[in-house]
Amino acid sequence: MLDKRKFWKKQDESYELQDQIISIKKQPVPSHIAIIMDGNGRWAKKRALPRIAGHHEGMKVVRKITKLANELGVKTLTLYAFSTENWKRPKMEVDYLMKLPEEFLGSFLPELIEENVRVEMMGYRDSLPSHTVNAVEKAMRDTQNNNGLVLNFALNYGSRSEILDAVKSVLNDCKSGILNENELNEEVFSSYLMTSKHEDPDLLIRTSGEIRLSNFMLWQLAYTEFWFTEVLWPDFSEKHLIEAVREFQNRQRRFGGV
Ligand code: FPP
Repeated sequence: MLDKRKFWKKQDESYELQDQIISIKKQPVPSHIAIIMDGNGRWAKKRALPRIAGHHEGMKVVRKITKLANELGVKTLTLYAFSTENWKRPKMEVDYLMKLPEEFLGSFLPELIEENVRVEMMGYRDSLPSHTVNAVEKAMRDTQNNNGLVLNFALNYGSRSEILDAVKSVLNDCKSGILNENELNEEVFSSYLMTSKHEDPDLLIRTSGEIRLSNFMLWQLAYTEFWFTEVLWPDFSEKHLIEAVREFQNRQRRFGGV
């Protein structure tokens, strides 16, 4: 039997969200939002569940937040899904995290295609299992002509390695004459990073109360606005993203000026 009260509550929430979306879009929305999705393990522990249950719940939040970011007109949403340091976790957890992109895209790829989202990834592909890379690459192919939100997964990503690799490529290109060292500037250097196709993030969100960057986009976040919340990632909802964007809209970005 349909629970009418639940149905109407959901309807009300949906209208309220639509109102908030309309109001928030009256001011500039961050073009690129990057998120460190933290707290899945603690969410599970609080419920006496295995850590992977937290990751599974976190995956569902990715869907909601992607949908809202797209509706808000955000151009790029970069999600830190697996860092180069996360291999240190128990094998069972790593194996599960490597299956998540397949699980996510297996369920939601048709929806992403319909919503005009383009899937991309940044990170070291060579050391990822082939089933993980195949799932992401298939989604990238299937969505390559979409021109809505770019959903950029940071998978096996680490910023220090990224910067070091960029430095090595710059040196090589200087040695072979492709690049003149006098032409090297911030813009040229940025083009050697994994984010070469994207603008720098305007807003960084980290959940779960941790106030650190954990080797995420160290170069790219130089002038980004940071927003931290105690909320654990599986509990993160549309209202939290709206709150973060509202606060972003009230900040004064000076980029070093006055
Ligand atoms: C950090 O929480 C979270 C991760 C290392 C994994 C993040 C992955 C997801 C949210 C799902 C991603 C979904 C897709 C579609 C790839 P933690 O485990 O460190 O939490 P804790 O600090 O509470 O232990």
